[in-house]
Order: sequence, then C-alpha cells, then structure tokens
Amino acid sequence: MKRIEPLKQPLRGDITVPGDKSIAHRAVILGSVAQGRSRIFNLSGGDDNSRTVRAFRQMGVEIFRDGDALCVEGKGWDGLCAPRASIDCANSGTTMRLLSGLLAGRPFTSELDGDSSLRQRPMQRVIEPLSLMGARISSKAGDDLAPLKIDGGNLHGIDYRMPIASAQVKSAILLAALQARGATTLAEPQKSRDHTEVMLRGFGAEVAVKGATVTVCGGQNLHGQDVRIPGDISSAAFFLVAAAIIPGSELTIRSVGCNPTRDGVVEVLRRMGASLECFNERTEAGERVSDIRVAGGALKGVDMGAEMVARTIDEYPILSIAAAVADGVTTFSDIKELRYKESDRIAAMTAGLRALGIEVEEREDGMTIRGGRRFRGGEVRSFGDHRIAMSFAVAALSGIGAVVIDDAACVDISFPQFFDLLGKICLH
Ligand code: S3P
Repeated sequence: MKRIEPLKQPLRGDITVPGDKSIAHRAVILGSVAQGRSRIFNLSGGDDNSRTVRAFRQMGVEIFRDGDALCVEGKGWDGLCAPRASIDCANSGTTMRLLSGLLAGRPFTSELDGDSSLRQRPMQRVIEPLSLMGARISSKAGDDLAPLKIDGGNLHGIDYRMPIASAQVKSAILLAALQARGATTLAEPQKSRDHTEVMLRGFGAEVAVKGATVTVCGGQNLHGQDVRIPGDISSAAFFLVAAAIIPGSELTIRSVGCNPTRDGVVEVLRRMGASLECFNERTEAGERVSDIRVAGGALKGVDMGAEMVARTIDEYPILSIAAAVADGVTTFSDIKELRYKESDRIAAMTAGLRALGIEVEEREDGMTIRGGRRFRGGEVRSFGDHRIAMSFAVAALSGIGAVVIDDAACVDISFPQFFDLLGKICLH
C-alpha cells in the first residue's frame, strides 16, 4: 500500500530513466543466440528483464556483470541447452512470447509459465503462426493460455498476415523464422514497434522491411555486439505527463529512446497543447535517441483514433491522467488490446479515475474521459499492473487529496527506481 499526497510546488529536474525494457529483452535474447560476446549497457534492473536473463542462464548461457556492462557469452543457436525445469516468465509477456518463437526452432522440449496475470493473457496469437511453421506448441491446459509446452525444431517459412498489430507476436515469428527453412514474410495491419528488426540488423542479419511487412530468410547466424540501451520512453512518459499537468513545472529527461514506432506519447501531448521540445537527437544502437524538455501548463482534450494505437500502446494509462485534467473531452478508440495487457487496462483506468472523481465512459474498445477536473483523494487499485500504479501516483501529485494505491510494489516490473526519482523531482 502506498499513500501519495498532492504536491505543493511545481516539479523541477534534469533526469534519466532506466533503459528501454523492450530493447533490453531483445539484446539479451539476440546476444544469447549470437556467436561471441555481447555487452549490454543500461539494462533497466526491472523484474521483466531479469526474467529473460534468468531464462537464458537456465539454458546454459553464461551471463555476468562486468563493471556497468552485462556480458552475454553467445555460442550460436545451437549453444542453447534444453532447460531442465519450466521457465518462469513471471509477469513478462515479452519474455514468454519471444521465447516461444525462439524455442519453437530449437530441437528440444521446453515449457514456459508465468504468474497469475500472464496465465490469463492470450497465447493463441503465437501458437497459431508457430504451429503453421511446423512447431508443436500447445497450451498445457488446452485453453490457449500458459503454461505452454514446446517441442521445437524442423520449421519452415510461412507467409503470414497477422490479425492484430503486435511486436511480441511479430518478434516471436521472426525468431522462429531465422531458424526455419526458406523465407518468412509477415504483414501487420499497422506497424508495431520495430526494435527486433533494428537490432537483428545490428547483429548482422538481413531483414527486408517494406511498410508494415517484414521478410527474413532462415539459416542466418548472428554476431555478438555491444548494445547501449536508450532510456525507456514508456517510463519517461510518467514524468512527461507529471510535468505537463503541474503548472510551473520544468523537467528535462535525457537520452530517451524516440523510435518513431514508439513516440506516440510525444505527439499526443503536443496535440493536447503541452510545451514539449525534443533536442540533441542522435542514433544509438540503430535507435533514435533524444533529450526531452517539458514545461507545465494548460492542456486540452484530444481524440486518439486507430492511427495512434500501435505507437502509443503502453501510454494510454498515463495519457488518461492527462486527459482528466485537460479542458474538454478526450476519446480513446480502437484500444481493445488494452484489455489483454498486464491487467485489463480499460477497466483498471476506468475504476481508478472514477474513484478519484473523474467522469468516464467505458466501452468494450475505448474510453471517453470528461476533463477539466482536479483529482480528489481516494483509494485506487493497481491490479498488480506497474503502469496503472505509476499512472495513479502521477494523478495523486496533481490532485487535491491523498491517494492510496493498494499495491505499488509492482512498479518493480519495469521501473524499480520510480518512487525515488519522483521524490527527487518533487523535493528539488
Ligand atoms: C512489447 C510490445 C507491446 C507492448 C509490450 C512490450 C514488446 O505488446 O504492449 O509492453 O516488447 O514487444 P504488443 O505489441 O504485443 O501489443
């Protein structure tokens, strides 16, 4: 349980946020199946990323700290050993889905399991394409949910039209495709984050991309690399919104990953009228990186339609906080996917916003939020979802009464330093 009081003064500071969770998973995975040593800098320290590290240690990959680097001694695809026990992905959907693709190509049996949240998340979306490629992968209980059992090996390429845009599903298929006979082509309805494609190129693979279609050939070997992980824009988003909604605030966040498939939050905040400047733009590990300066002021409501979903997928919870204080109405449409995240985020945000006095209309695939309000104090539930807990912590700072969050320890999933950093910019 965590109690947060409204802030009496604006936020000030010059900060960095932990390394991008999505990119870090990929660095550990590709490093583990590449030939030679990879060194990963700026790993988040969050529980999700450490699950991926543990999974590869379980498969015999040597992974150790050397100063500020995490060293991964890759011995190629064939260097992986069959895990003796089930791999526990805990809360991490990315670990489970990406590993399902990778293990579908390995000639041994493995099992992937997770916590009660992950055991409720849809897995048919990876089971179907991987089965089409020739893997024997099934839900142990026969309900399309984890735990999953995988008898891998002997895959062939496929042409696959993905029913939903999902970087986790796309990446699972790509990791299988690299081990398959022949070529695989994937088409997404909307381009999801492309960190896997970007990093595969960095590790020496050939990846052809045309719009939202990706093609790779099987039988490609990867080569170990040094990877510096940019700051996580999905973690920075909590601070961007906090500074934007608290008048008089001035905050700079350094070295934030601003990949165009991830930076919807910057566009939306600008459309809401926030004063937000990206500067010092550069490229690191093939990814666009930028410093971001944001100042607090009045915001107005916006309509976020289908075109924003893929680029903003994890930022709807924190944007719903901005929407509640913005003048006018904000509409989120086509966000049914949010119901299948670490929690049902449409339901979780609706419940929390209402508990703090905000008028919200909940739809099966969307939300309408009536803004122009101050959050009153109250009790909210995080549903064990790190992004819900962090969103309501930000709401509490800008409100008029104390907010109690039932389970706030779940921030450790992606951002263990969250409350310390928040304290630092509140006290300045
Ligand atoms: C992720 C992709 C997104 C995102 C998740 C991380 C990834 O999921 O919500 O937090 O690392 O590939 P989908 O693209 O599968 O919706």
